[in-house]
Amino acid sequence: MRKILVTNALPYANGPIHMGHLLGYIQADIWVRAMRAMGHDVTYVCADDAHGTAIMLRAQANGITPEEQIANVQKEHERDFAGFGISFDHYDSTHSKTNQRLAQEIYIKNREAGHIAVRPVSQLFDPEKQMFLSDRFIKGTCPKCEAEDQYGDSCEVCGTTYNAIELINPRSTLSGATPIEKSSDHYFFKLPDFGKYLQTWTRDEGRLPVSIANKLDEWFEAGLNDWDISRDAPYFGFEIPDAPNKYFYVWVDAPIGYMASFENYIKTKRPDLNFDDYWKKDSQNEVYHFIGKDIVYFHALFWPAMLEGANYRTPSGLFVNGFLTVNGQKMSKSRGTFIKAETYLEHLNPEYLRYYFASKLSDKVEDSDLNLDDFTQKVNSDLVGKVVNIASRCAKFINKDFNNTLSATCAEPELVQSFIDAGHSIARAYEAREFSTAIREIMALADKANQYIDEKKPWALAKVEGNEQQVHEVCSVGINLFRQLAIYLAPVLPELATQVQSFLKLEQFDFASRTQLLTQYEIEAFKPLMQRVDKAKVEAMVDASKDSLVTEAPKPVKKVKEKKPVQAAEIINIDDFVKIDLRVAKVLSASTVEGSDKLLQLTLDAGEAEPRNVFSGIRGSYAPEDLQNKLVVLVANLAPRKMRFGISNGMVLCSGNGLIVSPAGDAKPGDKVS
Ligand code: 2FM
Ligand code: ZN
Repeated sequence: MRKILVTNALPYANGPIHMGHLLGYIQADIWVRAMRAMGHDVTYVCADDAHGTAIMLRAQANGITPEEQIANVQKEHERDFAGFGISFDHYDSTHSKTNQRLAQEIYIKNREAGHIAVRPVSQLFDPEKQMFLSDRFIKGTCPKCEAEDQYGDSCEVCGTTYNAIELINPRSTLSGATPIEKSSDHYFFKLPDFGKYLQTWTRDEGRLPVSIANKLDEWFEAGLNDWDISRDAPYFGFEIPDAPNKYFYVWVDAPIGYMASFENYIKTKRPDLNFDDYWKKDSQNEVYHFIGKDIVYFHALFWPAMLEGANYRTPSGLFVNGFLTVNGQKMSKSRGTFIKAETYLEHLNPEYLRYYFASKLSDKVEDSDLNLDDFTQKVNSDLVGKVVNIASRCAKFINKDFNNTLSATCAEPELVQSFIDAGHSIARAYEAREFSTAIREIMALADKANQYIDEKKPWALAKVEGNEQQVHEVCSVGINLFRQLAIYLAPVLPELATQVQSFLKLEQFDFASRTQLLTQYEIEAFKPLMQRVDKAKVEAMVDASKDSLVTEAPKPVKKVKEKKPVQAAEIINIDDFVKIDLRVAKVLSASTVEGSDKLLQLTLDAGEAEPRNVFSGIRGSYAPEDLQNKLVVLVANLAPRKMRFGISNGMVLCSGNGLIVSPAGDAKPGDKVS
């Protein structure tokens, strides 16, 4: 029996759980339940991520203390997770004494090992709010292209990254005041000390999806930097030891919250478990973090480095999920597709969503789409039409004609055995997080069971006297097959499994229990197990999610710029020009970028072994689908640039009004442009 600790990313304590969050929680919960059903000892913990400026400001806006703010939100989060059947053993908060102690201990151990540096940092300070401003609370004019209203870290129009201090006319988005420059000491975690260690760690077998390890290589190549782990007061968080008025940046104590939640679980509910058995350096027990792809940087670099620096074990693996779109697009309040967990639960059965996500998920870091028509159709045809139907077709005869008792012998031992045998590959698929494969295999079995019943036609047999034994046997086989299916689906559909357990009076419902045949066995009266998805309820859920005050942001109207005389660019000689490697590239895919209304993310075929990722500020001119297969000119030897959203590997040539320069004729990806 393996001993496994599983965590989910800790949700921030300043907003509701929505469909996008649920993809990762449902994925982890299915895995946890499947591993438990296979007999492993799995502990599953989570917590609210309670610290940071955003939460402090949210509390201020709500006129309550941060402690009240996080307590209110935690209640809502726990209610929503319970509503979706997420089976956490323990749910905590990062704002706990245990977490404070562990965060301080990990920091001090790293400091003693020489991994902390202190140096002054000059930053913008809001003189009205009396606080330093992080980049997202500063806006101003881009120092490079003069685009207005740009955040403090990078320009979404020209892609330049800069220091907030360089912005023209900066202003605080909190007070509107003009920030002043001020210096203060900051504490840094010396991430480069762990460069070699991390390069090996990220390539260890099973540690990370290969696609993610490849992505991390880009960061290693670009070079690791010291990580600023301190924030000046006022800040809602933990004070740094021996550094008055300096607080740990929220991302320091957030992952430590995994350990603290586990420790608090032991303290409050499981004194038989031992913290060190899971966290000491040479622990053989396994630790897995389920996370979204947007927080890989923190989990695959800072987190293992902090643990290594403090002489703790590092996670056995990171399981990374992609983003969720709804009806093929980013969730949107105006379209009613920004669906909160709470709103979903007011209208629909959570098991529908668990099933739909399971049918889509694999171990790949791919985005998933919740298409509401497909969702309705799939749940109705698979769960109601195929699975539940088997029980309702057979149970009525057993209940009515055979005194609730299954036949004394199994009439189709081979058929039932084939269902039992299928459990091996279904279990393997679950363990490998290939849930879509598991679901396909289970539905193939459901088809087989229905085919059997269709061929035997118990309803027709029952009409002719003398066929009683055959009806009894066929329906008993049907119930046995149904029970196998319910066991296989139990990690995905725990509520259905509970109902089937009481219908079939079964104490055990784990994978091993499936080998026991039910013969000469009394069952309960059948009660309907699952309703069809009602389209009207789906529509009502979408309507209820529509924020009537929000309208889709209008396409940015380009301001007609004052005509300026064409500025003479700096003169360069031909040697400078030939250094620029211009190549034809084809757009393999284009997508919008979460959090940016200026950028599109392009995947380009530039005739190289691997496609390239490029961010381009052309969203105002193109919809992603306009660009599919379009040829563009790529500046191919531009140094990779780290942006807020990822690394941009090159630049696509555009005219000043944001239209891309497209090569004419039969140019091919990789062709040189000169
Ligand atoms: O990105 C987020 O929502 C963070 N609150 C996740 C934290 S995960 C862990 F490190 F705590
Ligand atoms: Zn710019």
